[in-house]
Amino acid sequence: MNDKTQRDSATPAIEVKNLTVSYGPVPALLDVSLSVAPGTLVGIIGPNGSGKSTFIKSILGFLKPDVGSVRIFGEPADKAKGRVAYVPQRGAVDWDFPITVREVAMMGRFGDVPWWKDVGRKDRKIADDALKMVRMSKFADRQIGQLSGGQQQRVFMARAMAQGADILLLDEPFAGVDAATERAILEVLEDTKESGKTLMVVHHDLATAAEYFDMLALLKQRLFAYGPPNVVLHKDLLSEVYEGNLRIFADLERDNR
Ligand SMILES: Nc1ncnc2c1ncn2[C@@H]1O[C@H](COP(=O)(O)OP(=O)(O)O)[C@@H](O)[C@H]1O
Ligand SMILES: [Mg+2]
Repeated sequence: MNDKTQRDSATPAIEVKNLTVSYGPVPALLDVSLSVAPGTLVGIIGPNGSGKSTFIKSILGFLKPDVGSVRIFGEPADKAKGRVAYVPQRGAVDWDFPITVREVAMMGRFGDVPWWKDVGRKDRKIADDALKMVRMSKFADRQIGQLSGGQQQRVFMARAMAQGADILLLDEPFAGVDAATERAILEVLEDTKESGKTLMVVHHDLATAAEYFDMLALLKQRLFAYGPPNVVLHKDLLSEVYEGNLRIFADLERDNR
C-alpha cells in the first residue's frame, strides 16, 4: 500500500472485474464485476447455491479465479490479506473448543495459532476494545461454547475487528438467531460502518434487505443487479432470479403495500 493509494478516496475498497470461479465443469460465478466504495454496507442476496459464499471466499483470496481479478484498495487481493477479515458461518466453527471470548478476540491479533497465550498488553487492549465495541466485554472470560448464537457471532466480529482489517466479510450472520439478537448484530454492523469500515454481508431474508443495507448485490451465478435496495428489489429482477418461489413474492407484496 503506497501513500497515494491510501489518500485517494476514489479508490474502491473492493473492485471485482470479470470474475469467473469454478469448482467443476459449471462455474459457480460467471463474469461478475462490481465495485464497492469505502464505508459501504453491502448485502449479497440470491437463492441457495447462487454463489454468495463463493463470492465472499473469492474476495478473501481463498479461491483462485478461472478468469478475472479482485483488488482491495487498488492492490491485488493476495497482497492485501491483512486488510480483509472474515466472519465465518456459525456452522463452520467448533463451538466445543475450550477457549474463552477474550482468547477468540486475541486470535484476531495473531491468527489461529495459540501464541495468544503470551500476548502483550497492547494486543490485549486491542482485543478488549473490540469486545467492547460488540458489547461483549462482560463475557470476556466465558467459554465460547456457553454463549448464545448471536453472542458467538459478535465475538467473531470482535476477532475480525481486532485484526485491524478495513473490510469485513460476513457469511449469513443472522442465520438461526432470534429477532432481538438480529437487532443487536445489526447495530454492531452499523457501528462498524460508522467507524469507517466497509462491510459485505451475505443475507438470506429479502424482507429485511432494504432496511439493513446501503447497496445490494443480487447473485445467481451472474450478478443480476448491483445498486441501492429500491433498484435491486425490483419485482421483475426478483422473479427472474428466484423463479417460482412464491413465499418470497408474498413477503415482498406485503412489504410493498
Ligand atoms: N467446495 C465445493 N465443491 C464443489 N462445489 C461447490 C463447493 N462449494 C460450493 N459449490 C457449488 O457452487 C455453487 C455455489 O455455491 P455457494 O457459493 O455455496 O452458494 P450460496 O452461498 O449462494 O448458497 C453451488 O452449486 C454449490 O453446490
Ligand atoms: Mg452460502
